[in-house]
Amino acid sequence: MSISGPEELAGMRAAGAVVALMLEAMKSAVRPGITTAELDEVGARVMREQGAQSAPAMVYKFPGVSCISVNDEAVHGIPGKRALASGDLVKLDVTVEKNGFMADAAVTVPVGEVSVEGKKLMACAQRAFAKAMLVARAGFRVSEIGRVIEREVRRSGFSVIRDLGGHGIGRTIHEAPRVPNYADPEAHEILTEGLVITVEPIIAAGSGRALTARDRWTVVTADHSASAHYEHTLVITKGQPMLLTA
Ligand code: CO
Repeated sequence: MSISGPEELAGMRAAGAVVALMLEAMKSAVRPGITTAELDEVGARVMREQGAQSAPAMVYKFPGVSCISVNDEAVHGIPGKRALASGDLVKLDVTVEKNGFMADAAVTVPVGEVSVEGKKLMACAQRAFAKAMLVARAGFRVSEIGRVIEREVRRSGFSVIRDLGGHGIGRTIHEAPRVPNYADPEAHEILTEGLVITVEPIIAAGSGRALTARDRWTVVTADHSASAHYEHTLVITKGQPMLLTA
């Protein structure tokens, strides 16, 4: 959506605040032994208290509240009986609806002690996001965001998963424009003030090729290399974007 007035901005801020609270609660619950279903319930409790709903469940009938993906699972992991183990990288991806507005954010959390490569991968996803913030502003093409992200990821020796990327958001989860994590010439739209998008580097230690698992939801890296994800929902301005989920 493109924000046209203070009420819409307040609505988006409220949805974003719920996402931030849920991620905070889930992050602090991450420890070896907790199952992804238990972690999902930690977020769900906060969501219900805040009068919000799971957007993926609402829009796509996703069988969980939040997407929880581990190691080679990049996105859309279904919460379940899997217990987290020390060394895992767990990706928490939360999208909620509140009063007709939707916001989306994701973070990668280390479980116990993780490998040096895992730490580098997590740091790289965050750094690519931060670099993208310098071009996520009115007047730039959408493709600039992807160009900056892929350059940073390649420089670190990793790959972006090109099948996955950011998107417009607001009244539903996936709105125009697509926000690819590479310099896609088709992403030629010009960013305008008030536009709400997600920026979300989804990267892999290996080739970046991805497949959908047999559960028909989870996207895994084809070479089973580890993956990291970092995402916020933001409003485009003439200067620094306004982060709604921070
Ligand atoms: Co997203």
